[in-house]
Amino acid sequence: MTAKTRVVMPVHLFGQSAEMDPILDLCRTRNVAVVEDAAQSIGATYKGRPIGSLGDTACFSFYPTKNLGGAGDGGMITTSNADLEAKLRIMRVHGAQPKYYHKFVGFNSRLDAVQAAILKVKLEHLPKWAKARQERAATYDAALGSIDGIRVPKRTVEGDHVYNQYTIRVQRGSRDELQNHLKEQQIGTEVYYPYPLHILPAFAGLGYKEGDFPVSERAAKEALSLPISPELTPDQQQFVIETIRDWAKRH
Ligand SMILES: Cc1ncc(COP(=O)(O)O)c(C=O)c1O
Repeated sequence: MTAKTRVVMPVHLFGQSAEMDPILDLCRTRNVAVVEDAAQSIGATYKGRPIGSLGDTACFSFYPTKNLGGAGDGGMITTSNADLEAKLRIMRVHGAQPKYYHKFVGFNSRLDAVQAAILKVKLEHLPKWAKARQERAATYDAALGSIDGIRVPKRTVEGDHVYNQYTIRVQRGSRDELQNHLKEQQIGTEVYYPYPLHILPAFAGLGYKEGDFPVSERAAKEALSLPISPELTPDQQQFVIETIRDWAKRH
């Protein structure tokens, strides 16, 4: 953080809250706003409080792969700050209030009505689906936790993890090899995320190079997200587990 820092955006990654207290304490003392990136973690909690209610504002995503996913793009902003709420409501309709009277330049950022209708129906099922994800995560923890070279996801804070992703770290053999082995058995996995930001061409202007952030670089080489959807059946999950065990025996 520098004297120019105005906002800190902690990411509640993979369905688990970021460690918020130290971030909030630091930002309050420096008068810096906190915008929670809650895209992957709707329904998660931090020390008993729902994420999305911790910072000055929070952004949720209803992209189809999210725990509450629409049939297309969509999202939501939450805030407890009435002034900010009023401004955001104007910004989402081109900065106009009343209609056609533009106080400033905003965006077209209305939630599509069809998406809203779908999300409203799905919203009621969200707690049940979160529980199903947690049960599948516990099954993976128990089955994979003792395999040498596979690190299961760490629970870093007190609170409910809603497992938008169940992401292991492959620390023996090669992650790509395990991914291919699973693919051969028609088991879909995903790498979140294959490139750390500092080596992406989009951020080349910042002047970083490979080796500058070794922890991120290692995570990018080791991370592998396994199937965790609420629809994953016990048989299907057992097949994923056996296929990973089979690979681990040979590495
Ligand atoms: C952590 C995180 N932040 C932000 C986003 C962006 O959300 P959207 O695609 O709805 O703009 C996503 C997902 O795409 C995400 O996973």
